[in-house]
Amino acid sequence: MTAAILGTGSYLPKKVLTNQDLEKMVDTSDEWITTRSGIKERRIVSERESWSSLATEAAKKALEMAQIEPEELDLIIAGTFTPDLRLPSGACLVQNNLKAYNAAAFDLAAACTGFIYGLTVAEKFIKDNPNIKALVIGAEVLSPITNWEDRTTCVLFGDGAGAAVVGKGEKKEKGILASYIGSDPTVWDLLCVPGGGSLHPLFKKGVPKEEYFIKMKGNEVFKYAVRYMEEVARIVLEKAGYSPKDIDWFIPHQANIRIINMVAKKLGIPQEKVFVNIEKYGNTSAATVPIALDEAVRVGFIKPGNLILLDAFGGGFTYGAILLRW
Ligand code: UT7
Repeated sequence: MTAAILGTGSYLPKKVLTNQDLEKMVDTSDEWITTRSGIKERRIVSERESWSSLATEAAKKALEMAQIEPEELDLIIAGTFTPDLRLPSGACLVQNNLKAYNAAAFDLAAACTGFIYGLTVAEKFIKDNPNIKALVIGAEVLSPITNWEDRTTCVLFGDGAGAAVVGKGEKKEKGILASYIGSDPTVWDLLCVPGGGSLHPLFKKGVPKEEYFIKMKGNEVFKYAVRYMEEVARIVLEKAGYSPKDIDWFIPHQANIRIINMVAKKLGIPQEKVFVNIEKYGNTSAATVPIALDEAVRVGFIKPGNLILLDAFGGGFTYGAILLRW
């Protein structure tokens, strides 16, 4: 018995922020951003949108594709560190929007690896009880915690949401074949948001405003990202008895095109099998993998029987990969 993805969905805010827009905000250039990261534009929420509105729209699309009614859901897991409120969880707000009142709902904090962590948790529940239907969300609204005066970070991030409905695979060979999650907290401070938690709550005296935004030592993080994304991909391939040449589609976390290309090259996966959409949305953290997966499914790239490798890395550091048969 395998746990399989029965439907995918994604939702992006309509408002586009281009590299040219950023040139007017900080000392940067379209040329620098494009060559160093591969990003051309990103989406930003409007005042009428929120984390839960994006996540709900993505969830509705995934439910529609899976032909599952919200009340059939047993579990809602949201990979995020930017839900609407500190309390309750983002997953509970989505549950309310969907009227999925039969589900248990919780958020899972694993930064950019949140969707892969969530899918791994859902898989365990389904293996325990094949009748369970889970909604796994990867969504992030990073714009309010982005320091729009810091050119080293503000050019990278965007807002967006992706989701997948997970349940029992119809055939033994369809679904998740191997999963692996891990973390390395020894250098957690290379990528963090120091303020806004219980240690440095909002309005605490003496905390500079920069501490409430994402801080990142990009070039250090880069090296860890390449190392762990390759490592974890090899672990799941070995677990399931496959090699990189068997992969039909590689769907990596979209943080930087150079990271994606390096990981693919190290694994020996040719460019035409790597799904990339970073130029349109930038780094949407936990949302990049489910958005990319949904796009690859909806444009018809992913076909039944394809071997898919999902792979992510993020703050914590966290990392994880999933190998699945579509
Ligand atoms: O999502 C999970 C984790 N995140 C990642 O995986 C992101 C990992 N890191 C990266 O993607 C890249 O390190 C960045 C895109 C953030 C930066 O690229 P880089 O090639 O590592 O550049 P750098 O940080 O080494 O900076 C090179 C230069 C510096 O100037 P000096 O010191 O050489 O004079 C920076 O000040 O580029 C400068 N710089 C910029 N210049 C123009 C940094 N940001 C900008 C900018 N525009 N936006």
